[in-house]
Amino acid sequence: MHSFLTILGTAGLAAAHGLVDSYVVDGTKYPSFDARVDMDFQPTVKRISWGSKTAGGPINDVNSADITCRAGPFVAPALTAVARAGSKIDIKWTDWFGNHKGPLFTYMGLLPNDDTKLQDVGFFKIDEATYDPATEVWGTDRLIKNNNTWTVTIPSDIKPGNYIVRHESIALHNSWMENKTRKTSGAQHYPNCFKVQVTGAGTAMPPTVKFPGAYHWNDAGILINIYYGPKQYISPGPPVYVGARDPPAGPAANVIETGALTGELAQKYAALRVAKNKGLMTAVHETAAMAGGGGCHWEAGADPSTMKCKATNPEDPARWAGFAQPVGSPLWVEKPGTAQRGPAPPKTFETWKPET
Ligand SMILES: *[C@@H]1O[C@H](CO)[C@@H](O)[C@H](O)[C@H]1NC(C)=O
Ligand SMILES: *[C@@H]1O[C@H](CO)[C@@H](O)[C@H](O)[C@H]1NC(C)=O
Repeated sequence: MHSFLTILGTAGLAAAHGLVDSYVVDGTKYPSFDARVDMDFQPTVKRISWGSKTAGGPINDVNSADITCRAGPFVAPALTAVARAGSKIDIKWTDWFGNHKGPLFTYMGLLPNDDTKLQDVGFFKIDEATYDPATEVWGTDRLIKNNNTWTVTIPSDIKPGNYIVRHESIALHNSWMENKTRKTSGAQHYPNCFKVQVTGAGTAMPPTVKFPGAYHWNDAGILINIYYGPKQYISPGPPVYVGARDPPAGPAANVIETGALTGELAQKYAALRVAKNKGLMTAVHETAAMAGGGGCHWEAGADPSTMKCKATNPEDPARWAGFAQPVGSPLWVEKPGTAQRGPAPPKTFETWKPET
């Protein structure tokens, strides 16, 4: 992500990397707001998610209003997914960057009415995938391995109503880069919010936290150096609400409107997405990677969206190529170049403790 931001300078396009592609809520698939396409597509598409032009970029400041549901101004959801309490939600991300290691957290919050400010919503945590020190596997590693899909279960005992589901990944590759003046770590938060009407007969209203408020910039799970094998990971925010996870009762709702396009419109939408992605890769190619540039040999005239980087120097493969790319993208290589490795965290950070 950072490499693209640096070399492109067009954050709008570059920002389209930490996005949710679609949700399967209690068996029904809903496309997510796609920042690459939805702002420009006509006729306007209807989504269950809060979306904006910068919806792909990370949020760095946990005290900013953007920590709730990413950077506004938002297109509010025109649709609401329907789910039985106790049912499952599959969250399908676009390709996640291999080096953007960190946890995944999912929260739910009752949405009293559509005008409620997102920052006034009280959230409880329903799921987390953090870090296993024994295997050094992060939640995002499991996400990638699972075809960029993460599944959560809605507690079966919660009160029915309209909820915001807030699903967040936190990329910790630069999190050690603290700024004590700004009171920020270098952690990148990628929250995604979508609207779900939960049905059922539950009554539970778990204790809640607000965003901003739930996280502090120097929480042990946010201001952390992940490069010296953390012994443990301490999740920011509240513990997961355990409640009940009984199977849902009765049949799933028969949802008519999901926002999915069909026929010619679907083809037009898919074509625009391909064009936007190609535009991004072309920009990377042209900015960073003229023949030999960025440490890559590029075939003149080839399609940059599919062309692989061929390293000019085997010792330092390709400055811009590496694992800070979606796995499988043309710029992805096993051994990253210098620009992708980023500055090494200071050794002193190994024994560093947050300020109190
Ligand atoms: C993985 O995701 C891709 C893209 O959404 C999809 O086409 C493919 O069927 C998925 N594979 C599996 C095994 O689910
Ligand atoms: C920290 O943030 C302040 C205020 O935005 C900025 O002036 C300063 O350069 C930053 N320091 C570092 C080390 O990045």
